[in-house]
Amino acid sequence: MSFDFVDYKKDFPLLMQQDVAYLDSAATAQRPASVLRAEKEFYEQANANPLRGLYELGVEATDRYEAARERVRKFLNARSDAEIIFTRNTTESINLVAYSYALNNIHAGDEIVITIMEHHSNMLPWQMVARQTGAKLVYLECEKDGSLPDEKLEAVIGPKVKLAAIGHVSNVLGCVNPVEKVIELVHRNGGVVLVDAAQSAPHMKVDVQTLDADFVAFSGHKLMAPMGIGVLYGKEKLLDAMPPFTRDGAVYAELPHKFEAGTVNAGGAVALAAAIDYLESVGLENVHAQEHALTRYAYEGMKKIPCVNILGSDDPDKHCGILSFTVDGVHPHDIATILDSCHVDVRAGHHCAQPLLAYLGVRSCARASLAFYNTTADIDRFLAALGGVRKEMGYAE
Ligand code: ALA
Repeated sequence: MSFDFVDYKKDFPLLMQQDVAYLDSAATAQRPASVLRAEKEFYEQANANPLRGLYELGVEATDRYEAARERVRKFLNARSDAEIIFTRNTTESINLVAYSYALNNIHAGDEIVITIMEHHSNMLPWQMVARQTGAKLVYLECEKDGSLPDEKLEAVIGPKVKLAAIGHVSNVLGCVNPVEKVIELVHRNGGVVLVDAAQSAPHMKVDVQTLDADFVAFSGHKLMAPMGIGVLYGKEKLLDAMPPFTRDGAVYAELPHKFEAGTVNAGGAVALAAAIDYLESVGLENVHAQEHALTRYAYEGMKKIPCVNILGSDDPDKHCGILSFTVDGVHPHDIATILDSCHVDVRAGHHCAQPLLAYLGVRSCARASLAFYNTTADIDRFLAALGGVRKEMGYAE
């Protein structure tokens, strides 16, 4: 193959120390040394409780925390730091919008639209909102390859839709959803759109102004930051009107601190800023190109292995590094266990997307998810192990 692969593994201590083909980056990414260093430095050099201490160290902690917010603002191209709320993860960001925005603005008779491919964390909150408000939850069905044609969107997104919550990239199929079109249609009738960018922000530019999204949620840990730090972007006028999710006083702080009750995860925020620095130093276009080349390489190899069925599009460029699959006659947990015995890490199960799997006619599947720091050697190891799965289970081939 003609692509010039770059080896980024040297930047990732775990990948240098462990002889493993890590193909589960959609679950959580590996962390480069610069991110680990940034978190350590915060605690070694600036640890005090941000937004509280009036002494020098407290001010330093606050400054570093707020600089991290500004870094995220720039990453998303938000208009103001007030629009960047630090949360624990995507799930918490979505819950914040569901409880604070939706319960106060969605009414009986309104419609909320989600797709059947949403992660449960972008499904359960809307089921709750629909139950509590009397709104109708409408599920957009995708095609078998994950695509959502315009006609389908236009047929479903009518004047009653006051909120849509759409995953930017499916965590099972890897398809990129037409969030721009959804936003355009929902805005026509004055509704708002939340984009779940958990699987997109680590791989592609998410520009909130270009998208004109009302809310965008993502997790730090899928973007090489530590676990326990996430982001909710919201348009300032929407956030301003929302009551705090958790209340730690009768007089609320101004945005963005209004939604950050209690002691914040400043070390995580600082490390998230370092992760963004690292990602942008590699360059999103290089990340994208290498992930696509690796995905194509893996896809073509998998296609040659008998009894392996890949879910989603036939075009590897439409998988965003995510290759979910089944092997005839073998339970996905057995697939993952056999691959693990060959030091290949993949995820198996329903991937918190049971409605999608039911629609696709599978109860569970295995999933290899690639990142730019993988190598063709990782893929070769995966393909060799995958080729042996059925034999291992006692089949003749
Ligand atoms: N949401 C993560 C995944 O898809 C954990 O694996």
